[in-house]
Amino acid sequence: MIVAVQNQQTAYLHIEGDIPADLDEGVFISVARKPALKIYSLGFQPAKSIPEIPRWFLHKYARKPFTVLDPFAGSGTTIIESLKYGASVYWLDYHPLSRLICRVKTTFASPSEVLQSASAIIQTAENQKYAPNTVHFANKDFWFQQQVQEGLEIIREHIEATKITIQPILWLAFASTVRKTSNMNDGMLLAAKRSRFEEIPKRSRSDVFRYFLQYVEKAVEAIAEWHPFLEKSINNVEELPFADARNLSGDWLCDAIVTSPPYINAIDYVWAAKFELHWLGMVESDRERLDLYSKEIGTERIPRDWSLDQSC
Ligand SMILES: C[S@@+](CC[C@H](N)C(=O)[O-])C[C@H]1O[C@@H](n2cnc3c(N)ncnc32)[C@H](O)[C@@H]1O
Repeated sequence: MIVAVQNQQTAYLHIEGDIPADLDEGVFISVARKPALKIYSLGFQPAKSIPEIPRWFLHKYARKPFTVLDPFAGSGTTIIESLKYGASVYWLDYHPLSRLICRVKTTFASPSEVLQSASAIIQTAENQKYAPNTVHFANKDFWFQQQVQEGLEIIREHIEATKITIQPILWLAFASTVRKTSNMNDGMLLAAKRSRFEEIPKRSRSDVFRYFLQYVEKAVEAIAEWHPFLEKSINNVEELPFADARNLSGDWLCDAIVTSPPYINAIDYVWAAKFELHWLGMVESDRERLDLYSKEIGTERIPRDWSLDQSC
């Protein structure tokens, strides 16, 4: 069969800043992005959307009052855009780390209180001799040096004893600390093969404490910048009580689903956040972590209890 391919002139547009709502269909665009609020980058999510896309959608199609659903909320890009636009938004995500990130972005914590608590934790931690040993998962010693494990255990213990309202942001800073102080290469997505072992820096407990404080400061900067927007819209956001987008019910309504779904085979979200899941106590064992795959859309893994008939 011969297929004739007709050469068409395709329009191309370079845009500075936001994508115009009246963009012609079929146009190729490139976007020079405006400096974004820090809140977008807060929290690890391996497939963040660019905010310009939900922003464009809302400006083009949403007529207030307007309610959005994001069933794959991730790090909350659609939530932020919806709230900034003045829309209401329902959200969910099956992944415990994503839920933590979105909760931090949609609730208030006093920046000064968070900073004070983090400093107090570090002061006590620096003088603490004993480190608990509560977190267990496969290959922990391969990915975490002994001193790092001790530092992380000590911080965990202190976060658990902190006032409940500021715990989420401390946990989020702790999650970044876990990633940073592991033996993964910087920027590595999955804990797979580690290249160039000789280059892994030797880390002490104090390094762990220092990184934790840095991540708390970064998180506090982000939420302090975001809070004035959130103050106006705090009542317009609601987490739906479901852990799987394939199973929704209830008497809520939305005008549009604005989301970036998980694509088949693209990202293994359970593996990507394996360390955070264990260190933050979001799963209690390797088995429990692997069980999360039964909810993950796009996974390459077939849940254990699937019979052959189901999978064909
Ligand atoms: C492409 S990401 C979304 C990224 C998000 N738009 C952002 O900017 O951060 C897809 C999300 O779908 C979530 N996910 C995968 N399977 C799911 C399921 N069955 N129910 C709900 N969320 C799911 C993943 O945890 C991931 O956070």
